[in-house]
Amino acid sequence: MTVDEGVRSPGGGPGRPGARAAVRDVLAPLLENGPLDVVDVGGGTGHTAVPLAALGHRVTVVDPNPDALAALERRAAEAGVGVRAVQGEAAGLEGAVGAAAADLVLCHSVLQYVDDLDAAVGSLVAALRPGGGLSLLVPGALAAVVHRAATGRFEEARRLLEDPGEEGRLPRRFTPESLLELAASAGLTEPEVHGVQIFSDLVPGSPAEPDPHTAESLRALEAAAATHPVLRSLAARLHLFARRPA
Ligand SMILES: C[S@@+](CC[C@H](N)C(=O)[O-])C[C@H]1O[C@@H](n2cnc3c(N)ncnc32)[C@H](O)[C@@H]1O
Repeated sequence: MTVDEGVRSPGGGPGRPGARAAVRDVLAPLLENGPLDVVDVGGGTGHTAVPLAALGHRVTVVDPNPDALAALERRAAEAGVGVRAVQGEAAGLEGAVGAAAADLVLCHSVLQYVDDLDAAVGSLVAALRPGGGLSLLVPGALAAVVHRAATGRFEEARRLLEDPGEEGRLPRRFTPESLLELAASAGLTEPEVHGVQIFSDLVPGSPAEPDPHTAESLRALEAAAATHPVLRSLAARLHLFARRPA
């Protein structure tokens, strides 16, 4: 099993090629550095955690949903790997897994739901060892504007455009700028923001399961556009990778 097989869309179905490849490419150099202590916050049923454990990493999933944790344990048992399951939330993570205990903290498709964003991110950072990496995957604000406009919901699109963060409303959405601000205020260094699923969710008629040649072309296009200063802002999801200062 490879790590890209473990990166799924937040809806639970298989992620589009751009999503899997983009997150895999950013995390690969860190994951190749030998067995790591990885904490997957809101890791749910283990789509990401189990493949990481199969690669030899020591993985803990922290999630508030006991049913998801039970499914994770079944999935890990079927794969013949061990994954520690802890019931808990992003806020207070360092209490659940220990302060400065993780080389890598993943928090994918979760921060749009948390009540107190700054407290949650502060806890994710507190759980990291100095020099450790934080991987956040969050919904993009502008993709929601374009999607509504493309489906004729012009009033909704304009309201979202005027208030991309929809201050105070959940699920919240992010822009590259708001993610970078979040990273800076959490004291993180070396932040990189990649657009994920720029075209695959945006272009009407884009096939969910493209043939291999089309899938590879789409993957290459997504990779080329992921750091483009304009195009990344239109991505369905934004991926931030940053480090706790060493
Ligand atoms: C959309 S799923 C994402 C699952 C997985 N991370 C992925 O990328 O496929 C959201 C997960 O976040 C969990 N969750 C919800 N609120 C949370 C919180 N405050 N802290 C941590 N996890 C939370 C849910 O139980 C669920 O498993």
